[in-house]
Formats: sequence, C-alpha cells, structure tokens
Amino acid sequence: MIRMGYMEKSAVIFDLDGVIVSTDEYHYEAWKEISEQEDIPFNREINEKLRGVSRMESLDIILSNSTKSYSETEKLLLAERKNERYRELLNHLSAKDILPGVRELILNLKGREIKIAIGSSSKNTPFILEKIGLASSFDAIADGNAIKNSKPDPEVFLLAAERLGVRPEECIVMEDAEAGIEAAIAAGMKAVGIGAASNCPNAHIGVEDLTKLNIEQLLER
Ligand code: BG6
Ligand code: MG
Repeated sequence: MIRMGYMEKSAVIFDLDGVIVSTDEYHYEAWKEISEQEDIPFNREINEKLRGVSRMESLDIILSNSTKSYSETEKLLLAERKNERYRELLNHLSAKDILPGVRELILNLKGREIKIAIGSSSKNTPFILEKIGLASSFDAIADGNAIKNSKPDPEVFLLAAERLGVRPEECIVMEDAEAGIEAAIAAGMKAVGIGAASNCPNAHIGVEDLTKLNIEQLLER
C-alpha cells in the first residue's frame, strides 16, 4: 500500500547515552570524583553541559572552572582516570538500564523494515551495547571511535547514514542533547528531542521519553 506523504525510505538514528540507556548518573559520578580529587567545582548544572559532548571536550568544560592550568599530557591522564572509573561503574549496567519505550520502538521499526543505527559520541559504545544486550540489534553503528569531530558537528550522523546506505534527508535522529539536535539539523535530518532535549527549540518534536513518541505520525510527516 502506498500512503501519501509517507517517507519513501527512512531510517532512524539513535543517540546512545540518555536515549537508549541511562548512563548519565555514571558519567556524573565519575566526573564528580575526578573534580573532587582536583579540587574543581562541579555540579549538576555543569554536568548538563557535557551531554553529547566528547570526553576531551567534556574535560575542557570542567577544567574551565579550575584555577590551575593543565598540560595536554595531564589532560589525557585525567580523561583516562575518568574513563577507568566510568568503566568500573558501567560494570553494573544491564538490560534493566534500557530506557522506557526503546525495545518497543526498535521492534516497531524492524517490523516496518526501517533501518536503525546508533550515532553516539561515546568511545564506550560497543562495551555499553554489549552490557545491555543490544550489540546485534542495529544495522549500523557510528560512534566516538570512528569520528574526528564530535556533536554539534554532523559527522557522526552522516557516517551513520552512510553506513546504513541512506540519504541524510531520509533519517530521523533521536537525541537527548542540544549538541545532538544541532548535529542532526546540520546533517539535514529530522530531530526528535527526548528528555533533557524535549524543549529544544530546533527539534522537530519533543517528547519526555520514547513511550510518548507517536512514530506513525512522525514517519508520515
Ligand atoms: C556522550 C555523552 O554520549 O558520550 C557525553 O552524552 C560523553 O556525556 C560522550 O562525554 C563521550 O563518552 P565516552 O564514553 O567516550 O567517554
Ligand atoms: Mg545523549
């Protein structure tokens, strides 16, 4: 059946942290510990600015509140320490941490033969997907290991589209970060703002979580 207005071929690209899985608290805990050790002010408000941003850029945001200046080597060591602690915390991660509505949406999209990908700034993407049991659920993965420029640069989403074999304008991005919404728009894709990004002015629509998303309506627009 051909439905008027239905996107001829479409794909959905999911951000990982904060969209598929709730790793936010682990990132927060690990950065908080590093900040305390270095005597740098850190709080939830600063943490919000790290959403979607790469590890090294996140560190730069945190260090902008420090009175001390850090060499490149010191910065690499700090980022490594943060990641070690974060990976320790990630060991607690399981399928229980998959966010509401994710499984249902994946099944729904697969049923419609709509391709799905991950587009994440995280270098821990393979580890996280393994931990939550979704390692083989996606048709393509574009992550922090494969890109030079992190969100808001469109690189990760353009790579995901390329790996799926679809045009950027056929893609819908699910994002919880403002930087991710900007990246999707810059890639020429449709952006759905989720949770923290639900009120993002540049998102095509915003929802509290994926259980609230009307995917039929979105695909028909
Ligand atoms: C993003 C997170 O998904 O990945 C950021 O929202 C994080 O907070 C970034 O800094 C990089 O993650 P990782 O796992 O490579 O340190
Ligand atoms: Mg995110």
